[in-house]
Amino acid sequence: MPFDKKDILDIASLSVEDIQLILDTAESMREISERPIKKVPALRGKTVVLFFYEPSTRTRLSFDLAAKRLSADSVAISADMSSLVKGETLLDTARNIEAMRPDVVVLRHAYSGAPQFLAGRLKASVINAGDGTHAHPSQALLDMLTVRRKKGTLQGLKIAIVGDIAHSRVARSNCVGFTKMGAQVVMAGPPTMIPKGIETLGATVAPSIEDAMSDADVIMMLRIQKERLKKFSMSTEREYARHFGLNRQRVALARQDVVIMHPGPINRGVEIAPDVADGPHSIILDQVTNGVAVRMALLYLVLGGGRHADTD
Ligand code: CP
Repeated sequence: MPFDKKDILDIASLSVEDIQLILDTAESMREISERPIKKVPALRGKTVVLFFYEPSTRTRLSFDLAAKRLSADSVAISADMSSLVKGETLLDTARNIEAMRPDVVVLRHAYSGAPQFLAGRLKASVINAGDGTHAHPSQALLDMLTVRRKKGTLQGLKIAIVGDIAHSRVARSNCVGFTKMGAQVVMAGPPTMIPKGIETLGATVAPSIEDAMSDADVIMMLRIQKERLKKFSMSTEREYARHFGLNRQRVALARQDVVIMHPGPINRGVEIAPDVADGPHSIILDQVTNGVAVRMALLYLVLGGGRHADTD
């Protein structure tokens, strides 16, 4: 079945078949990054603009690498180095970018809905690289690929997502994605960080972190988004680690073959102990590796991959 989406804005607008196609395409893209010459001509002549209004290491770099490994030309612009600082609006900036005829605009923005706003106004494909607290679809897709590779399936797994759910676009996209693919998502965290109505996305809220971890196949820890909180001190961090941090004792509550995930960046010693982050259950760096493959798949598919592109 061909992929017919112009834009990738969230997981909710992808069908189960779309997600399967993206994961299968990403699986075939993985091998390109293992070659001595990490480049195929699939997107030769295409232009990808990376437009990041918020800081990023993993997402920005992996979209850039993904474009380059498929032979597209990529160019990055960040808010502080653009004419936004001179008062230009997002729409005017985007119209000016479009006047230069890019094929894809990858956008990260602090406002939920900003990628959707542009997608309805630009001919270029828009890929959401994280918007406010709304969605981070490429992160959820790379997380699903990483779990599928480790467990063989997503169906029937218990996924515990723990931490600052309220501010987390990763939690929302993963909740929608994993439940869509037949997993059970359980969330836990400080009551002030669990938004009302989160169950409408398909998750259940556990009464305690220990309940969430019990028999979990996957534990996904989230960092506290200090930049979105008014007050968060060192002593609060210590308290947080004691009550909600992932340590070896809590990992022992989960299944023996549990895998530990984190979208990054990690606050070591706060939401996750260093020996757990670097321990035998951790697949945090696999997530990063798979991020390049998933973003290659997304660029390839929105640009008509499979119909006329060449990945040999
Ligand atoms: N997971 C994630 O979005 O990381 P970055 O903020 O570094 O892109």
